[in-house]
Amino acid sequence: MKTTSTLMALALAGMLYACGDSGSTSGSTETNGAAAPEKTEEQKAEHDNKGIGSITSVTLNNPLDEGMVKAGKDIYDLKCSSCHKLDGTRVVGPGWEGVTSRRKPEWIMNFITNVDEMLNKDAEAMAMLEECLVRMPNQNLTEKDARDVLEFMYKNDIKK
Ligand code: HEC
Repeated sequence: MKTTSTLMALALAGMLYACGDSGSTSGSTETNGAAAPEKTEEQKAEHDNKGIGSITSVTLNNPLDEGMVKAGKDIYDLKCSSCHKLDGTRVVGPGWEGVTSRRKPEWIMNFITNVDEMLNKDAEAMAMLEECLVRMPNQNLTEKDARDVLEFMYKNDIKK
């Protein structure tokens, strides 16, 4: 039983996200022009995953709020950059390139503010942990800090 679930988690991790494999960001999200292919129920479920925690809905800014981007970058430089790069390369944790299309904004904020519970209970977070083999430590960010970092992540993804 144990082995089966571990294997399943590993298989899932490989599908969703390969922590060490920087080159293989799934190209399937860029379907410019052509009608988006029907998603399977399973893919929909993944993409609708808001994670576990107090954040149930996030209102995104368009255009981005540059003040928040700046605050988010400062937090990144101080508390995240030792483990996360801004491109697709993994250091300790996955590179942040494309994270805003891989994950729902609520998922990202719940992950940042409630990392322990997410790593224990959220299937996608658990799969990532299986791949990375390091538990991301709680960075003690407030909800506002996490929202600023999220704004910075969107900025990082737009730039590319
Ligand atoms: C000590 C290293 C470390 C630090 C510091 C760190 N992280 Fe992480 N992070 C990880 C690891 C490792 C993972 C992958 C999940 C796991 O194995 O726990 C991760 C995963 C993530 C993810 C999910 C990425 C994805 O592709 O889905 C987000 C979002 C994230 N971290 C945000 C942050 C933020 C924001 C900070 C700074 C406030 C931060 N991390 C600081 C190690 C770290």
